[in-house]
Amino acid sequence: MDAAALHHLDLPAFDGAGGTVTLPGSKSISNRVLLLAALCEGTTVLHDLLDSDDTRVMLDALRALGCGVRHADATTVEVTGFGARGPAPQARLFLGNAGTAMRPLTAALAVLGGDFELSGVPRMHERPIGDLVDALRALGCTIEDLGTPGYPPLRIGRPQLRLDAPIPVRGDVSSQFLTALLMALPLVATRDVVVEVVGELISKPYIEITLNLLARFGVQVRRDGWQRFTIPAGSRYTSPGTLHVEADASSASYFVALGALAATDAPVRIQGVGEGSIQGDIRFLEAARAMGAQVAAGPNWIEVRRGAWPLRALDLDCNHIPDAAMTLAVMALYADGTSTLRNIASWRVKETDRLAAMATELRKLGATVVEGADFLQVTPPVQWQAATIATYDDHRMAMCFSLAACNHAGVPVRILDPRCVAKTFPGYFEALYAVARLPAPHVPVVCVDGPTASGKGTLAARVAQQLGWHYLDSGALYRLTALAAVRQGWPLDAAHEHRIAHMAERLPVRFEADRVLLAGEDVSDAIRTEEAGMNASRVSALPSVRSALVALQQSFRRLPGLVADGRDMGTVIFPDAQLKVFLTASAATRAERRHKQLISKGIPATLPALRADLEARDARDSQRAVAPLKPAQDALLLDNSALSVDDSVAQVLAWWEARQPFGAA
Ligand code: DC
Repeated sequence: MDAAALHHLDLPAFDGAGGTVTLPGSKSISNRVLLLAALCEGTTVLHDLLDSDDTRVMLDALRALGCGVRHADATTVEVTGFGARGPAPQARLFLGNAGTAMRPLTAALAVLGGDFELSGVPRMHERPIGDLVDALRALGCTIEDLGTPGYPPLRIGRPQLRLDAPIPVRGDVSSQFLTALLMALPLVATRDVVVEVVGELISKPYIEITLNLLARFGVQVRRDGWQRFTIPAGSRYTSPGTLHVEADASSASYFVALGALAATDAPVRIQGVGEGSIQGDIRFLEAARAMGAQVAAGPNWIEVRRGAWPLRALDLDCNHIPDAAMTLAVMALYADGTSTLRNIASWRVKETDRLAAMATELRKLGATVVEGADFLQVTPPVQWQAATIATYDDHRMAMCFSLAACNHAGVPVRILDPRCVAKTFPGYFEALYAVARLPAPHVPVVCVDGPTASGKGTLAARVAQQLGWHYLDSGALYRLTALAAVRQGWPLDAAHEHRIAHMAERLPVRFEADRVLLAGEDVSDAIRTEEAGMNASRVSALPSVRSALVALQQSFRRLPGLVADGRDMGTVIFPDAQLKVFLTASAATRAERRHKQLISKGIPATLPALRADLEARDARDSQRAVAPLKPAQDALLLDNSALSVDDSVAQVLAWWEARQPFGAA
């Protein structure tokens, strides 16, 4: 699916789920463990690290400070810490816009001492760090403001540490200040060191993550409420050897739910987060179990199967899992009675008023919903209704409502603005398609057949993009087959038919974005020449070549849908397609289009010759014995001689829309 904005996405109802989904690593955990690994002796292998701008600047900084950094693969990094040796005595660190790098590095380098300069992008120089700098100065660190006081960039010198008095730090601006101190102080805890929080501490779950990770690296901080933290004398970081970075536990909830709703055979396995997770939302698993899910979990994985069915209705105080509780509201659609989610007033002040949004959208599906000031009561639909779900620019609304496609009534779901998932999980829908199951005949297909240069490729690709579906250019497969045969030196005739067909069956082809690879070689341009088209027309007249390519073409029919263009998409390859379009244009118009195309690529061509070629190909394509070019009986004819591409796209989408059951948003 194209990453560009998508107006809506139609999900056909799935009828199963199974397989493995790997979730991306959590940013806060990734940058914390990178620094902790750097502060240890020896090598720490970090698995499933998030690959993002913020983790990249941290890795660069650690290298500059003298750590060994080796990428074992895309998500595994081995960090060899500087430990007792200490960091390089001097370094200039550019930290982009990564608060999770700037704050902890400032604290760690300030207590260790040296000659360091820390800066970032202009926006980073507007993000406060003054409260942390004040706390560090009170401790005897030398920190110079290089720009506006209280903001980066900073220069760090050598400290004269005074650890006898408690160190005050504000907790109501950013919990990262406290996190930074807690990570730095074990480096110098020759005696008990006490940190005292001034003001109400915000984001406590993040401090819990910090304390947890410190413990994994051998440092046990004592905590009195959320006010006083003591780092015991003699604390020392020791590498755990290997550490798995957890994936986002709230993101995992959608796949836990999918397993509970639809994994009747193989489980849905979630890689990246597991039992004993240090994220609060992992307690969603208890709620899913209470509803009947069969959950097995290990340190870094969760496996979920459907257990009780229908699910058991639930009455739960959800204050401890505010984000993941949204997933429960959608699971409640599949319960044996009325479910009540309590103590969720915080939903009202999130990305949108989630209580109101959830109630409105659940009702569209046919559920009976009571929306309280701080609770939600959901009774499953008596009859499921096809609905257009608004997502309110809220990633969690989009992810939650994709689960409405697990209904057994076979009712599809339309999700508006599905790309809003990018806030936390850009690849969400692709991950969903990989584990949701639907037999190929139920996956929707739109066919666009027509003669050469009718514009069907452009039209089909645009329709696919608008629907967020896969796209098959079947002509490319004949062009590839012909090219491969020509390269073997085989004449494209009946005498070589079986050899060519045998090869076509095993065509080593890969489609990558807009490139076509044949045995790894980019042949996108080579298959687009006039000669390649003529050769394709020749091999496509050989019956065994046609049958050899059937399975490959049909394998493109995958969730969430396919737009396929060619000559026989509607007649032979997808005879059960939900919509078939036969596109034509006059030979004169088509010759002109092709002429323009070639001239714009700098390829010399004349109109009369092109027209003669087109007519010859039309004649061969429509007179061959097997799968001749002709409209399917149930195809809608579209003559686009006088239409713009936009007009044609709009027409096909309107035809598609007329066959859909969705109402207005
Ligand atoms: O659409 P195109 O010009 O790329 O197709 C190249 C040739 O392949 C065309 O002349 C006919 C043949 N073809 C076919 O026979 N059946 C298809 N489904 C697609 C293409």
